[in-house]
Amino acid sequence: MAGSARLCVTNQKGGVGKTTVAINLAGALNERGRDVLFVDLDPQGNATEGLGLLEAYDADPPTLLDALVDPTDVDLDDLVYDHPEMDIVASNVDMNAADSTLARQPDPETKLDAVLTELETDYDVVVVDCPPYLGLVTDNALYATENLVIPALAEPTSKRSLELLFDYVGSLEMDHDIEIEPRALVANRIENTKAADNMLEWFDDALPDVPLYRVRKRVALQRAFADGKSVFAVEENVDMESVFASMAEQLEDERATEEVPA
Ligand SMILES: Nc1ncnc2c1ncn2[C@@H]1O[C@H](COP(=O)(O)OP(=O)(O)O)[C@@H](O)[C@H]1O
Ligand SMILES: [Mg+2]
Repeated sequence: MAGSARLCVTNQKGGVGKTTVAINLAGALNERGRDVLFVDLDPQGNATEGLGLLEAYDADPPTLLDALVDPTDVDLDDLVYDHPEMDIVASNVDMNAADSTLARQPDPETKLDAVLTELETDYDVVVVDCPPYLGLVTDNALYATENLVIPALAEPTSKRSLELLFDYVGSLEMDHDIEIEPRALVANRIENTKAADNMLEWFDDALPDVPLYRVRKRVALQRAFADGKSVFAVEENVDMESVFASMAEQLEDERATEEVPA
């Protein structure tokens, strides 16, 4: 990617694969030779814990929340942790107070943008893992990245959650006069059922302009997560690697195209 790029992995529904997709997309970008900064914005800290940073999650202030409130008040480099595949801004238990704390700040949706502007000079790409609800924390991810990767289960409840997400994104765009682009839809945990086939068709029809990726239900994805890695860093060959690899490639290609001056 020329210059640095920012992506957020969002869906307000829990358990749809945000964290799984975020980690494996980061792994795929790393595999392509990019320097990746992974930001765990979910107060539950699943990615932070999964990537082996439980101590960071429980660390005393200053934490990610302090940085969001006032980036100039925190040495931001202290918030970045090492991992073999990526650098990580860890979540922290204090992030559970983020929505209410940010609500008392001026321009509360713009805080992550300021933090990333400071941090991203060392990276090619930033991947943000979002919490499973809409609110100020997710607003920060949407505002800072303007690029969405949306995981959704291949089941009918996803119709409602995607509608809700797009309505929400639309009003944030209006409020801030910005454009937030859906870059990838990831049908996740696909099984061999008629219902899943129908949903894949629905995704294609509903969002014809958004590339659709198909991630099948694989225990290997859970094993890699339990191992604190993406599928690219585990010994076993996982067939879903190719899906994340083409997602990473296409996201980079799109960006390269957009950067060509008119
Ligand atoms: N394609 C998949 N195959 C098998 N298990 C999956 C897949 N995607 C996610 N999971 C599992 O489903 C659970 C929820 O996924 P997660 O990525 O944590 O979702 P979210 O971040 O949206 O809450 C986790 O236990 C994860 O390992
Ligand atoms: Mg998650």
